[in-house]
Amino acid sequence: MHSKKRPGSLRFLITAGGTREYIDPVRFISNASSGRTGFALARAALKAGHKVTLVTAPTAQRPPNGARIVKVKTAAEMFEAVKAHFNKCDCLIMAAAVADYTVAKPSRTKFKKTNKSLTIELKPTSDILKWASRHKTRSQVVVGFALEDQAIRERAEKKLKDKNLDMIIANSPAAIGSDKSTVQIKTPHTKWLKLPLASKTIIARQIISLIESI
Ligand code: CTP
Repeated sequence: MHSKKRPGSLRFLITAGGTREYIDPVRFISNASSGRTGFALARAALKAGHKVTLVTAPTAQRPPNGARIVKVKTAAEMFEAVKAHFNKCDCLIMAAAVADYTVAKPSRTKFKKTNKSLTIELKPTSDILKWASRHKTRSQVVVGFALEDQAIRERAEKKLKDKNLDMIIANSPAAIGSDKSTVQIKTPHTKWLKLPLASKTIIARQIISLIESI
């Protein structure tokens, strides 16, 4: 890491939770994200004296005091919220588990069951991180997560490069829904740094402190 500390309070835009992609008004496709990491990052940033806008998909987490909360449900809504707040932030952290696919033709009315099999067509969502990297100014920092079960460093490093990120935080599926996690962190200018297994609160504090020194 560079030793230069960013002065004063930063404006963080943090996303959290797993998006919901609706099949009909009451059914959706989602994932097991608890939102803990994103909320812990928001709390850690606030504790360090920064300003936080937290864009969150539905979670059971308690909103941190002092953060501006933007509630969303779908990947498309999360994308709109990030677009609306991005130019006012110094650092975007995409901790949300954004669905890579959404339902191609959601039904406006509740689906009725039949005794036939059902195929649901999915279409890709927009990659929010890629959009942010393309639109960032030189002073903005964009941080992504990579959830990998194999070849963790290799794949995460590919995301760091492909998405033109300032930092990638790699974790494994064991982190999902857990109180603790081990993460590995890389920036374009530094070697891999492995943070030992710790609570998401501790990990979040370490991440915020590393971002301050980018
Ligand atoms: N992400 C995003 N927009 C999406 C999907 C994911 O901004 N539509 C962000 C996530 O918030 C995370 C990072 O991209 O910070 C990595 O997400 P991940 O699902 O691990 O990677 P993908 O690039 O989607 O690739 P794959 O699922 O094939 O590993």
